[in-house]
Amino acid sequence: MLNTSTNNINLLLLPKPFLGEKGEQNNVQLFNSSRVHKASVGAFFLSRKLYGSDGGVTRAHRARNGGLRVKAVATTDSEQAVKVKATVSVKPTVGGFLTNVGFSRGLDDITDVLGKTLLLELVSGEAQEKRGVEKATIKGYAHRLKSEDGIVKYEADFVVPPEFGEVGAVLVENEHHKEMYLTDILLDGLPFGSVQFSCNSWVHAKYDNPEKRVFFTNKSYLPSQTPSGLKKLREKELENMRGDGKGERKSFERIYDYDTYNDLGDPDKDIELARPILGGSKELPYPRRCRTGRPPTKTDPSSESRANSVYVPRDETFSELKQTQFGFKTVYSVLHAVVPSLEIAMVDPNLGFPYFTAIDSLFNEGVNCPGLQQHGFLPDMLPRLIRAVSDLEDNMLRFEVPKIFDRDRFSWFRDEEFSRQTLAGLNPLSIKCVTALKEKKLFIIDYHDAFLPYVNKVRELKGTTLYGSRTLFIYDDETLRPLAIELTRPPCNGKPQWKKVYMPGNSATSAWLWKLAKAHVLAHDSGYHQLISHWLRTHCCTEPYIIAANRQLSTMHPIYRLLHPHFRYTTEINALARLALINAGGIIESSFSPGKYSLELSSVIYGLEWRFDHEALPNDLISRGMAEEDPSAPHGLKLTIEDYPYASDGLELWSIIKQWVTDYVNHYYKDPSLVESDQELQAWWTEVRTVGHGDKKDEPWWPNLKTNDDLIQIVTTIIWVTSGHHAAVNFGQYAYAGYFPNRPTVIRSKMPTEDPTDEEWKHFLEKPEETLLRSYPSQIQATRVMAILDVLSGHSPDEEYIGENMEPSWEEEPMIKAAFEKFNGRLKELEGIIDERNANEALRNRNGAGVVPYELLKPFSTPGVTAMGVPNSISI
Ligand SMILES: [Fe+2]
Repeated sequence: MLNTSTNNINLLLLPKPFLGEKGEQNNVQLFNSSRVHKASVGAFFLSRKLYGSDGGVTRAHRARNGGLRVKAVATTDSEQAVKVKATVSVKPTVGGFLTNVGFSRGLDDITDVLGKTLLLELVSGEAQEKRGVEKATIKGYAHRLKSEDGIVKYEADFVVPPEFGEVGAVLVENEHHKEMYLTDILLDGLPFGSVQFSCNSWVHAKYDNPEKRVFFTNKSYLPSQTPSGLKKLREKELENMRGDGKGERKSFERIYDYDTYNDLGDPDKDIELARPILGGSKELPYPRRCRTGRPPTKTDPSSESRANSVYVPRDETFSELKQTQFGFKTVYSVLHAVVPSLEIAMVDPNLGFPYFTAIDSLFNEGVNCPGLQQHGFLPDMLPRLIRAVSDLEDNMLRFEVPKIFDRDRFSWFRDEEFSRQTLAGLNPLSIKCVTALKEKKLFIIDYHDAFLPYVNKVRELKGTTLYGSRTLFIYDDETLRPLAIELTRPPCNGKPQWKKVYMPGNSATSAWLWKLAKAHVLAHDSGYHQLISHWLRTHCCTEPYIIAANRQLSTMHPIYRLLHPHFRYTTEINALARLALINAGGIIESSFSPGKYSLELSSVIYGLEWRFDHEALPNDLISRGMAEEDPSAPHGLKLTIEDYPYASDGLELWSIIKQWVTDYVNHYYKDPSLVESDQELQAWWTEVRTVGHGDKKDEPWWPNLKTNDDLIQIVTTIIWVTSGHHAAVNFGQYAYAGYFPNRPTVIRSKMPTEDPTDEEWKHFLEKPEETLLRSYPSQIQATRVMAILDVLSGHSPDEEYIGENMEPSWEEEPMIKAAFEKFNGRLKELEGIIDERNANEALRNRNGAGVVPYELLKPFSTPGVTAMGVPNSISI
């Protein structure tokens, strides 16, 4: 037995097996933790087998012991088993096994008392030395203890023999009749202190699926470095996640698989609701979605039937807090109570607003919705929409005043604001540079080629119209101003092509025509924003990365752990979107100009425009001519327009993310060949390219994944899309589009100059304002969109902002922990940088009388609709 009176014990004469991997002799510091000193050192000097093949301890252990390398020595005294206590933390959940309802609960209580509800098995990290097969696990039932701070604890005792080696995983069998949510498992009594397993996962009931769940420790391993005893378990777990691709998925399953968007239509209900399959064809390419396996429709065997709830792998579902306050129930509440009430209140679905003041009254007087309470609307679900409880008693639905209207109710009318919003508004992703002349620069928003093929089809639909449009802007080193709008209608019904150019004008007639042309372009931009910049490029394109990551990267893979926080809730919000927003007859189709062609159009544009490499912000800016490479400029890019708030704040955020990803990747991939030889990583990237985005698999622009730099660029791009890009196009939706004259989603009638009847032209000349109001969305269209945008612009109380929470596995690696702290610090600095920019009077795109400051890329926010805050993931 050694004396433990000193913290530093030099063991100079270590026998060879106890030296470091390369034979270097380490100065050994044992147990600098006071917790450890309480025990006899002899008890910790177990057989070297307990500590891994080189007699050393894991990095996790080192971390817990102050980051020092520790070597252990066997003594005869230590060849004995240790007692280990496992504590399992379980979160009580609605519908989980602690629910106070149902017969099965009674049975579960009895088995809980008997202590036979949760079977744990410790898995050794080491294979048996000679035969290379896994060692037998050590089993034990956990019995239920009291609950602490709302968490129910279960405890199990184990005796671990010295030859067992390091514990690498725990298997869990839930013998309750219902699923349970495990937050973590803690093993105490192991030689170098406790070992934690962060679970945060649903464990199915044994009765649903007899297969045991596996949880690995918080230490990350590249596949080639997997402890020998865990190799098969690692592979087996991935096989389970991939599933067999057959049958309908059940709600407790965790299977990730692919399917096309063949579930948007509902031809069995009405043949008018049939929609083409998006994905899987040259004509309509699309990213893949998560497979649910529902049976086909009767009308069309290639389409999947609709259902009231959509399968997502169990751990992708919203937390109960998000469900209650912001997620499905809120959307559901809006769709099933608010929208029908609005429809009752507004008897004529085509009725527009008679005056501009009638639009303003939505914010002050409100809409009288007599059906509101009958439709089950619960005011606490939508605290913002109802500004006072008494309003609900009167059945008055009053909308919150949107930021743009609050600051300056006339700003939407001005050309400067029209251009400013192309750089600092909701869709700063469409503007392109045409030519950079000596002093003046020409810019364009071009919706000509993409929209033109759909103009005639859309015009056959009721209550909408469409043009191909091009809007030119000029920048004179001070302000961006619109120069001209060209609207085009292709030949139709024997009439030749119609094309006209509008300019701001200096007569009353030309000024009104200019306003009408701007309204058309704004509707085009609204549609493009919602369908492309928002839905397609963030929500839709991210789902394949998530599916591939769960199928190909083990939960112990460092890149899985890096990406995982950025995938939170995306699969579920996308499933909700297919259920109620982007489906046939859903909110998007009924509110946006392209009507039932909306999603089809997003597929065509995916085919024409989307490329992974351009999703990286610097490449996106360069491809649009909005920046050029300049090694002397900050972030290596010179912006074509310096005062481009989305780009300048975005580049700061991009480079902060990239630095974090660089530190992380270079820590785990120390040898440059490791990226190419990492089979899981390669399988993930191959699947993203050839399956999830398989309709684009032959494109030449897909980045290779061979070096650390390749990996850093790919991962940074994905994190940027899920964080900065999504935040910039999502959380300002109510602020900018809540006052719809600023961004109408649809313009319902053509320009009065396009083949007008005498009567139409006369009416325009007599009442131009009425012509504009009649073109705007109907009352029901406008209020429906306002209600939905309000929900979509809100942060949930359990939102996780970028760089806010350290993952447990990062905390255990000192280098990663330090890199994350640096990441967090730089994000806090960014808040200050953005505030400073907004206070700078020289930056007129974010500062000035009535101008809404640009805060969409400020990293942190309080819950609710704040028009700021960058969450880790696409969760709304
Ligand atoms: Fe979103």
